[in-house]
Order: sequence, then structure tokens, then C-alpha cells
Amino acid sequence: MIRDGATLVGTIGFYRLDGQGNGEIGYWIAPDQRGGGRLREAANAVIDWAFSSEGAALTRIEWRAVVGNEASARVARALGFRFEGTLRQALVSAKHRDDGWIAALLKIDERMPQPWPVLED
Ligand SMILES: CC(C)(COP(=O)(O)OP(=O)(O)OC[C@H]1O[C@@H](n2cnc3c(N)ncnc32)[C@H](O)[C@@H]1OP(=O)(O)O)[C@@H](O)C(=O)NCCC(=O)NCCS
Repeated sequence: MIRDGATLVGTIGFYRLDGQGNGEIGYWIAPDQRGGGRLREAANAVIDWAFSSEGAALTRIEWRAVVGNEASARVARALGFRFEGTLRQALVSAKHRDDGWIAALLKIDERMPQPWPVLED
């Protein structure tokens, strides 16, 4: 949970932890709280924890989003995630399947934004 006083700003967490050093990051910011870069600050802190041996001891963190989710992709790019491609019909929700973008950040990666072929600057 990301809170500002009593206000819920958003959530950030890890999913699909496989016990072998892999996990997936997910985040959401309440519509009236978007903008302002608070997510990046929170995400950097939880990524530090996820890679640390006292935390989740991950080696690879994946990020996935429906193709075209530029807001989420821009956050991931800013955090240093590298774009890896498109997973056709891989994201399954209650009613349908979507093509997904996939990116990842390794523990050994520099946390510097890299160019993403699907995002303009
Ligand atoms: C993705 C999400 C968490 C981003 O939070 P946010 O507070 O809007 O983040 P920011 O304001 O820092 O915006 C991130 C970037 O996206 C851009 N952006 C914001 N809304 C956008 C939109 N509708 N379309 C395209 N780009 C958008 C911003 O300009 C910014 O780009 P920049 O860093 O290159 O300047 C938020 O939009 C959200 O909760 N979306 C719904 C849930 C979701 O999609 N979660 C991710 C699933 S993987």
C-alpha cells in the first residue's frame, strides 16, 4: 500500500514468486492520485527490497502489461526495466485475452532508463 496520511495513493507488489529468484511487479495508482512521480519512488524502494538477500532475494523481476498501456510502460522504463517483447494473447482476464508487453529488470542491471522500441521519447 502506498499511503499519504490516511489517503490510499496506490498499491505495489510482487506476484508469481516462484522460489527460484523470479517474480513479477505490479502497481496501481488511484485515478485522482496519478502524476507526480510518487510511484517511482515507492517502486524503487520495493525493488531494492526484492533484490536484497534479506528481502525476496530475487534475481529477475518481470513487468507485463496489456499492449498499449503506455503509462505503465513509462514507469517501468524509468525504473530501468528492459523491454523484451510482445507475448501474443498471453494476458488472461475474466472475459478475454490480450497481447502483452514484457520487460524485465535483473539484479545486476544498472537502474538507468533504456530505450524501448514501443515508446516514443
Ligand atoms: C500505470 C500507473 C500506475 C502510472 O501511475 P501515474 O501516477 O500515472 O504515473 P506517472 O504520472 O509517473 O506517469 C507515468 C508516465 O506515463 C505517462 N502517462 C500518464 N498517463 C498516460 C496515458 N493515459 N497515456 C500515455 N502516457 C501516460 C506520463 O506522462 C509519464 O510519462 P513520463 O514518465 O515519460 O513523463 C497508473 O496510470 C495506473 O494505475 N494505471 C492503471 C493500472 C495499471 O495499468 N497498472 C499497471 C499494470 S502493469
